[in-house]
Amino acid sequence: MELREDNDDGIDSWKEVTLIYNAALKMMETKMEILNDEFQHVHRYNPIEHIKARIKTPESIVKKLKRDGHESTIDNMVKYVNDIAGIRIICSFTSDIYRIVDMISEQRDIRVMAVKDYITFPKASGYKSYHMIVTVPVYLSDRTVDTKVEIQIRTVAMDFWASLEHKIHYKFEGDVPEYIKSELVECARMVSDLDVRMLKLNEEILAITRERGR
Ligand code: GTP
Ligand code: MG
Repeated sequence: MELREDNDDGIDSWKEVTLIYNAALKMMETKMEILNDEFQHVHRYNPIEHIKARIKTPESIVKKLKRDGHESTIDNMVKYVNDIAGIRIICSFTSDIYRIVDMISEQRDIRVMAVKDYITFPKASGYKSYHMIVTVPVYLSDRTVDTKVEIQIRTVAMDFWASLEHKIHYKFEGDVPEYIKSELVECARMVSDLDVRMLKLNEEILAITRERGR
């Protein structure tokens, strides 16, 4: 690891940075669990299937800083690397995604810095997900540090596609043959189709349940 430790905004060592990002991740994870529990309590249904959280390795932080032409300093990583703390929220249905986005945006101590809606506007690769960069306050003994967390929200089907596509990209070191790329685009289309049909099916089931309940 080659991160230089000069910095002027109060975060002055790699260890402290890791501690702060870990705390931010824990806070986000707990917030999501609480929302899921409350939703289960009110609506008898879990919008979140599961949650994955990870801290970016020092190696990939340095790689990203290099890619973007920045020196590897703690200052630069805090400023330019938005996904040091990352959380992925996997839902059953597309409608759950927007529900979760709204619930996150409405939390008073969360500040939404940026969003990218790759569900309404998928990438050329076929990639679909809703991305948010937010900050959460981390309360230390003597100060509060607003810390960035990248949130990716997607359905189980989108996640299935994204993990295979990621593996393929990694295998070919970015140079994926055209026929595999177009097959992936076709698979992404099928994934979207499946998401639409499963959502419709679920709505029909809910309608029947409501009717029987009356
Ligand atoms: P970086 O590339 O991380 O600097 O961010 P960006 O500003 O280009 O943001 P973007 O929202 O495009 O991507 C952030 C993250 O989303 C990536 O690190 C991946 O985890 C995921 N992602 C984006 N595009 C794709 C894609 O085409 N396939 C897969 N599998 N994941 C993607
Ligand atoms: Mg990118």
